[in-house]
Amino acid sequence: MDKLLIEGGARLHGEVAISGAKNAALPILCAALLSAEPLTLTNVPALRDIATLLALLRQMGVKAEQSGDTVVLDASGLDNPVAPYEMVKTMRASILVLGPLVARCGEARVSLPGGCAIGARPVDQHIKGLHAMGAEVAVEHGYVRARTRRLKGARLFTDMVTVTGTENLMMAACLADGETVIENAAREPEVVDLANCLVAMGARISGAGTDVIRIQGVERLHGATHRVMPDRIETGTYLCAAAATGGEIRLTRTATSYVDSLVDKLLDAGCEITPERDAIHLKAPEQLTAVSIRTAPYPAFPTDMQAQFMAINCVARGAAVIRETIFENRFMHAVELQRLGADIKIDGNTAFVTGVPRLQGATVMATDLRASAGLVIAGLVAEGETLVDRIYHLDRGYEKLETKLAALGARVRRVS
Ligand code: EPZ
Repeated sequence: MDKLLIEGGARLHGEVAISGAKNAALPILCAALLSAEPLTLTNVPALRDIATLLALLRQMGVKAEQSGDTVVLDASGLDNPVAPYEMVKTMRASILVLGPLVARCGEARVSLPGGCAIGARPVDQHIKGLHAMGAEVAVEHGYVRARTRRLKGARLFTDMVTVTGTENLMMAACLADGETVIENAAREPEVVDLANCLVAMGARISGAGTDVIRIQGVERLHGATHRVMPDRIETGTYLCAAAATGGEIRLTRTATSYVDSLVDKLLDAGCEITPERDAIHLKAPEQLTAVSIRTAPYPAFPTDMQAQFMAINCVARGAAVIRETIFENRFMHAVELQRLGADIKIDGNTAFVTGVPRLQGATVMATDLRASAGLVIAGLVAEGETLVDRIYHLDRGYEKLETKLAALGARVRRVS
């Protein structure tokens, strides 16, 4: 199993290009299921999660051809509306096929994802929404089984803001009979990117990016070409890595507008940030100031940046409070950071972090994708060598991580 060996102490400097967003590409790839005509996507990142989803779509009868960052999907031969447990268990986002399959095929059998390292993560809101749209939905033998002649437009309320829940229901509603209104919808930029792709395919959607999305169902969607938005979490991760190491970097093919809440906190921490057209320049101070954060749905501070921001607080001047409000178990990285010498106390969903003058390299274990990114940032500033184990988590969501870090001057290499 691959590990990442980091020799800490190098300040990151230079320029790196940000890849397409994993969490936009995943639902957009599923949108191909809604049409019998080809969907061409560009700026698709080369990631393990993307490969997993393409394999899932192929076993349903979808043709998927990849060339560089372009993927062409043809779901005209879709004949097996089933997502088996073996595939879903490796990637929870597979649940995103449920809405499109029911809408296009009138039936779907999708394995329940099961538990996850960061929390229970149920999918009850996805199921509740499809049921309200007239589908017969049952959970049988660990699978969600949904059937309908044609989905009917409905007024949907989600009990909490759910990103993939909003995306699943929005996709399903595109082919429903009549109008669907999703209230308490997620406002994440990835939801907007998906809506833009669906509109390019002929869907009638308004309000994406607000908490009320309206969809007028149409008979069919057609083919389209769409460019996936930049990855705002990858953007944020490199900004935090540069900040932690006292570096100066320029990120291209991205923009500050995707990461406003993070930029605000990095400015408080003492960084200078210059927004450019399709680029961001960051210059870190000699010593960062600790800054408190509270995660919440967009446009507030993203839970997917919590671990990376905790890492920078570990080496900042002063103390900070970190509140995680989205997932119930998303502090697994804290114990690993403590192994590097961080001063962190956890009380329920709150972490109290006091900066220390230096971290010391050690072997640490990655537990999920973003936790791993937090450990890599800590390794970049720690004295001596840090070995990050289980980096398959990183391969799920960061394209060419070690190559990009090395291009910025980090001393990092993959070892078997
Ligand atoms: C998406 O997950 C992202 N994944 C996650 O990114 C991200 O952490 C999360 O949104 C929050 O921003 C993708 O976009 C593929 P939710 P999702 O439904 O949609 C509860 C990463 O590292 N809930 O918005 O699964 C749920 O348990 C990943 O890239 C229900 O109770 O998250 C959580 O507490 C990890 N019932 C909260 O809502 C439901 O039916 C928000 O989850 C749905 C959700």
